This record gives sequence, structure tokens and C-alpha cells, in this order.
Amino acid sequence: MTSKAVLITGACGEIGQALVQNLAAKGGYRIVTTDLMPLPESLRGLSAEHLQGDLVYRIKQFYDYNFDVIFHLAASLSSKAEIASEEAHRINVEGTMQLLMLAAYKSEKRDKPVKFFFPSSIAAYGFPTLQDKQAAGRVKEDEWNHPHTMYGANKLYCEKLGEYYGNYYGQRHLDPNPPTMLDFRSIRFPGLISAFTLPSGGTSDYGPEMLHAAAQGKAYACFVRSDTRISFMAMPDAIKAILSLVDVPREMLTREVYNINAFSLTADQFRKRAQDAFLGTQISFEPSARRQGIVDSWPEDLDDSRARADWGWQPDFDEDRFFDEYFLPAMRKRYAQRPSLRSYE
Ligand code: SER
Repeated sequence: MTSKAVLITGACGEIGQALVQNLAAKGGYRIVTTDLMPLPESLRGLSAEHLQGDLVYRIKQFYDYNFDVIFHLAASLSSKAEIASEEAHRINVEGTMQLLMLAAYKSEKRDKPVKFFFPSSIAAYGFPTLQDKQAAGRVKEDEWNHPHTMYGANKLYCEKLGEYYGNYYGQRHLDPNPPTMLDFRSIRFPGLISAFTLPSGGTSDYGPEMLHAAAQGKAYACFVRSDTRISFMAMPDAIKAILSLVDVPREMLTREVYNINAFSLTADQFRKRAQDAFLGTQISFEPSARRQGIVDSWPEDLDDSRARADWGWQPDFDEDRFFDEYFLPAMRKRYAQRPSLRSYE
């Protein structure tokens, strides 16, 4: 069997690293990676080729390949994107646009759809007030699409661009013999937590930062209020969702963009979990007005009934299983191997 050619952008990020490892373990893929950074040592044997650099300026290079699937993960996350907004737009929108154009061109040329996976986010939502957020509870995909952040606006717009290139590009769908269009699929992720990597530049980062700090015996000042609630997910579930959505036959899908969900908890519930698990945990709450404002605009919980109905989505890790079967065992193993707490970083 010939292997599928895949491109993973943002391969050095948290989702990227986990995805490279999973696809390599699954087998049957020729993985090409790209990122601003060199590939971490642990991934070097898994990628057939790594193209280091800014894809917006080097897009021509990618036309030499025939990718079956593009996982476009590269992005500037929500907190960072508020500090360098125009740069974030360039990375988040221009990069996506360039790759969509490439995938559209290749789909037509080879008469076979290139699958294009795009990770969207809870940041695509936006509530005017905290009271609206609390009253709304679980939100569906088409509700409250009024992001407050550059990152959220970029994600929502790129979802629309994906729908455009996949269905209506140049109004070619109206031709008597429409050409083959790309196959765009997207997931709106909640905050993601990996036991092996830390996020950087996001606003849901307080969850993973707090847990990793407590595991290392470091004090942590949480940058949001203790009652702040959004939904979270274990990284293995995020990867499972990506691989399931990409594999499912197109006819089973009723839309391009799906919510998925695992568990929703407050920053204080994170603190309690950390305290129960790690002796001497020291967590304080020192909210930053800007970052608090961002999470206050994000939903408490997501309605993922469409993903469940259309492609059988369900998470493996609810809150208890996340801690008991994923995060804490990984921490115990890590400490057993690395007695020096400092080497954890
Ligand atoms: N985790 C992302 C962030 O905080 C949201 O998708 O920016």
C-alpha cells in the first residue's frame, strides 16, 4: 500500500508534536513537517522532511509536493496575538489562505480532494458580558460567534475561508462540470492539556500551567479568577478527534466545523485537584484584567452533539479519567525517571 503524504504545519507546537507521534505510530504516512523552529530531537526520526521557516514567505516550496492531507496547525495563540495583533493576523490568516489556495489548486489539478484539517477554537465565540456567558452554558456551533480577540476573529474567518474554498471557490460549483474542490474539516477545540508539553501564548494556559507547576513543586499565580470556567480536554482526545474527523467519509458530515468537548471546570477546581495530587501545592489567584476578559468571553461549555451524531465523537477522558488515568500517572512516571525537579523544564 502506498503511504499517504501529509503536511503538518506548526509541527513543533503542542498539537503538532502529539500528532506527528501518533501518525508515525499508526504508520502508512509520509510526514512532512514545517515550523519556524527546528524539529525537537524526539521527532526527528518520525518526519521524512522538515522545512524550517515562515510558510507565508515560502509557500512556493510547498507546490512541489502532492499532499493528500494538510494539517494546518501553525498559529499565534490568543494572548500573544493581543500583544502583536497584525503579526498574528499575518500568521493566522495569511498562512491559512496560502495553504487553502495550494490545496484548492492541487485538488483541481489531480482531480482528487486534498483534505485540509484546520484547528479552530472556543475563541471563535464571544459573549458581551460574563452574565451572558453564565446564562448560556453549553453553546452550539452557530451561537455567539462574536469573538473579542484577534486570534478568535482569525479562527472564525479562516473557518469561513475553508468553507469557501471547499464549496464555492470562484463559483466553480455552478459550472456544468464542477472541478474537484478541497475537503475542508475543522474542530473547535476547548483548552487542551498535555502531560508532556506546555502551551505558550494562549489564554487557557492557566489550566496546564497550574498543574505542571504543582507537579514540580513550584508556586503558581493564576492569571484568572478562581471562579473562571471554560472547558478543557486531554491532548490524546484532541488527537483522537483529529484523526477520526479526517478519516470519516465525507457523506457522513453535515457541516465543516464541529465543537468537541470533554470536561468543564473552574480554575478553583483545578487548584483543588492539584492540591489533592501534589504535596505542598501553592496556588494563588492574581487575575490580569486583559486575560480575564478574554476567558470571560469564552463559553463555559460546548455542545458537541453534532460531532457525536455525525462521526461518532466521544472523549476517552472525562474529568476523573483525565486526572487518574492520564495526567497523574504521566507525572509519576516522569518523576521516577527524573528525580531532579529542575530537569523537568
Ligand atoms: N488554547 C487557545 C488559547 O488559549 C485557545 O484555542 O489561545
